[in-house]
Amino acid sequence: MKTTKFILYALSLCFLFQALTACEVSRDDRAITIDGKRRMWPDLLRKSKEGGLNTIETYVFWNAHEPSRRQYDFNGNLDLVRFIKSIKDEGLYAVLRIGPYVCAEWNYGGFPVWLHNMPGVEFRTANSVFMNEMQNFTTLIVDMMRKEKLFASQGGPIILAQIENEYGNVMSKYGDAGKAYVDWCANLADSYQIGIPWLMCQQSDAPPPMINTCNGWFKSWGGAIPHRTAEDVAFAVARFFQTGGTFQNYYMYHGGTNFGRTSGGPYLTTSYDYDAPLDEYGNLNQPKWGHLKELHKVLIKMEKTLTHGNISNVDFGNSVTATIYATEEGSGCFFGNANTTTDATITFQGSEYVVPAWSVSILLDCKNEEYNTAKVNAQTSLMVKKSNEAEEEPASLKWVWRPEIIDGPILEGKGKFAASKLIDQKQINDESDYLWYMTSVNLNDDDPIWSDNMTLCVNGSGHVLHAYVNGEYLDSEWATYGIFNYKFEKQVKLKPGPNQIALLSTTVGLQNYGPMFDLVQSGIPGPVEIVGRKGDERVIKDLSAHKWSYKVGLRGLDDKLSNSDSDNLTNWLSEELPSNRRMTWYKTTFKAPLGSDSVVLDLLGMGKGFAWVNGHNIGRYWPSYMAQEDGCITETCDYRGSYDNNKCLTGCGEPSQRYYHVPRSFMDKDVNTLVLLEEFSGNPSRVSFKTVAVGTACGHTYEKKTLELSCQGKPIAGVLFASFGDPQGSCGSFTKGTCDAEEDVLPIIQKECVGKDSCLVEVTQEKLGKTTCGNIIKRLAVEAVC
Ligand SMILES: *[C@@H]1O[C@H](CO)[C@@H](O)[C@H](O)[C@H]1NC(C)=O
Ligand SMILES: *[C@@H]1O[C@H](CO)[C@@H](O)[C@H](O)[C@H]1NC(C)=O
Ligand SMILES: *[C@@H]1O[C@H](CO)[C@@H](O)[C@H](O)[C@H]1NC(C)=O
Ligand SMILES: *[C@@H]1O[C@H](CO)[C@@H](O)[C@H](O)[C@H]1NC(C)=O
Ligand SMILES: *[C@@H]1O[C@H](CO)[C@@H](O)[C@H](O)[C@H]1NC(C)=O
Ligand SMILES: *[C@@H]1O[C@H](CO)[C@@H](O)[C@H](O)[C@H]1NC(C)=O
Repeated sequence: MKTTKFILYALSLCFLFQALTACEVSRDDRAITIDGKRRMWPDLLRKSKEGGLNTIETYVFWNAHEPSRRQYDFNGNLDLVRFIKSIKDEGLYAVLRIGPYVCAEWNYGGFPVWLHNMPGVEFRTANSVFMNEMQNFTTLIVDMMRKEKLFASQGGPIILAQIENEYGNVMSKYGDAGKAYVDWCANLADSYQIGIPWLMCQQSDAPPPMINTCNGWFKSWGGAIPHRTAEDVAFAVARFFQTGGTFQNYYMYHGGTNFGRTSGGPYLTTSYDYDAPLDEYGNLNQPKWGHLKELHKVLIKMEKTLTHGNISNVDFGNSVTATIYATEEGSGCFFGNANTTTDATITFQGSEYVVPAWSVSILLDCKNEEYNTAKVNAQTSLMVKKSNEAEEEPASLKWVWRPEIIDGPILEGKGKFAASKLIDQKQINDESDYLWYMTSVNLNDDDPIWSDNMTLCVNGSGHVLHAYVNGEYLDSEWATYGIFNYKFEKQVKLKPGPNQIALLSTTVGLQNYGPMFDLVQSGIPGPVEIVGRKGDERVIKDLSAHKWSYKVGLRGLDDKLSNSDSDNLTNWLSEELPSNRRMTWYKTTFKAPLGSDSVVLDLLGMGKGFAWVNGHNIGRYWPSYMAQEDGCITETCDYRGSYDNNKCLTGCGEPSQRYYHVPRSFMDKDVNTLVLLEEFSGNPSRVSFKTVAVGTACGHTYEKKTLELSCQGKPIAGVLFASFGDPQGSCGSFTKGTCDAEEDVLPIIQKECVGKDSCLVEVTQEKLGKTTCGNIIKRLAVEAVC
């Protein structure tokens, strides 16, 4: 479903971090600080630039900026101008993907839900209501950028802008009106006269041509963790340049976290890590970040040749080709081997070269191999999660709690509005995940459905249902990513007279992709039925057209229990902390973990709900949703062969997402508040905060290259293993191979690295001594602890 996206070395920031608004700016070892708080934008931008990117790309999220019609929000995290200026401050270019449809696994693809509720609207087609709104928002963004002189034609960093997104995939479903719409989009973009090119990503008949991209993959509830190897991403990028490409975008370079209710899908996790070069928390994902950095360096060295050279190819058969870029000043070469199993030995201009299966070699001078995508020299970092080491922090958190009150009005079916039908949950303008559907059914024991086996049946599609009958909880039901409908069927005890049915429907992110995705039902489309059984006969009472009463949200949300100062307003209970209690609020205080490592909330033991830190909604949690049992890799992932999102999965049989990112900018130094809303059942006494940092750093570097090791901001504590020869195994389980250096290299590496923030070791016989290996290509393997 997610296919091609575009652009030259770009970072797609799906989440806009805390903005810069204050004035006292300084820096520490980890980030730019403003008024003493760490800010993530400059840190992420710097790491991207250091990784060899020259352009940062961002979407613009319409539903975040215009949550209510004509009421705008560009504050804090949403300060788009500030973000573009931060890009400029780092000396980078920017690509602005206005859309305003963005897909992005973002709630409703970025469309505000109020737009869906405008009379006569039809999305993404020749419809005047839709086009007026789209034009209004797009114009606002373009004018905002122009006023701040942010387009490259005005001296600003924005070199490209995008209108619409991934429409080529779905256009045929919109018929002639789709073609008219896309032409209108192109004319609209053109009419702004911003002096830079516009793109339509995934629109083969729109200028300029479609541009290739490197995708990882995202994670769903019920899904395992997708990986794409460093070797394979590098192969795809190098291959793109070998075959004449000049523009490359990573989707994602940094995916971050979808906090609050921004995650779409439905059924997508809050983690949007994407196995990207910068991980969810902004740490370097090694060796991927480093391996791509090396590639970027080589490509930049080759820039002139790549953009001016005459291209010729030599075909060696078996999917092996040499590509020569020739200029007057000299030539550069790519040797590509797209064979998935067989390494190739080729003779080129009188010399012999080995090109491993599924790899590309780059030779700046067509003589010496400068880079091969399958030879990873960058360090591997194994990240570890450690307990909160804040001073005086007790071993476990001390909780107070409160039930979510489901009383009178709900039990009596008294909501805020009513209708004689089941409504689509989007009618509430996405004000909340929660919507109560309530009705009453009058029965007597000579009713045709009356039997001793009656069931309540609900056809639902959005996305979790908790059913209550006559004030008693009956059961819950939900679907999974890719299957959006669930069928609830449960035996129910009814009584003669009125019976009260209260269905709490919970959305888990609105649909974000597909033709007419905006019309996909959410909530309870129905039917809702009572089914009675008499022998084999099923007798149905359809309640769908009954009078239904509706209430948006939950009492605790109305009472702002998620705020840190909610004590004054409500009575929290400190006695008899319940575990495994449905619909329960929990609250605690904690100290921020010491240091500057990334912080996560470990919610193992909890069911499903929301978490807030100091009132910041850190997103939907659902650690009780287990990933599939099967389909994960058992050992290392074979990088060879085309990537697909089921290729290299890990985490089968474990919670799809156990850890939830808590940015340090959400926390104060002293007392912080954590509030959980639990829908199912959970045991808060198992909840804890942890820090994420490099635990082990391994080097695996080929002869004539340089080993570079770092613990990312901490000194290297020790070196456990070093071998120069043909070491076997991988980081954490290296062993010596059949040959080794004549003298032990461990002391050499210890001397160079221990106690230092980072170290460089040239992998040569001069430095490391002679080996017993003979003529093979030697490698240095090192395992260090941080
Ligand atoms: C957007 O619509 C409002 C009216 O709802 C109007 O005042 C405003 O000028 C429009 N903006 C643009 C850029 O068309
Ligand atoms: C890969 O190499 C093998 C062995 O040389 C050969 O049989 C096969 O056809 C090659 N595959 C492709 C796709 O070139
Ligand atoms: C590249 O091709 C052009 C046109 O054929 C030719 O004039 C030029 O000499 C070529 N340059 C090199 C370095 O081969
Ligand atoms: C009631 O009906 C359901 C659905 O047909 C069936 O699965 C269940 O076994 C029945 N229960 C009893 C007690 O008969
Ligand atoms: C259940 O709801 C879906 C819409 O989400 C609809 O397509 C389907 O027809 C409904 N099933 C029945 C039995 O009506
Ligand atoms: C809650 O009480 C504290 C301390 O008594 C006070 O500082 C704070 O302003 C109160 N908050 C609200 C919302 O009343």
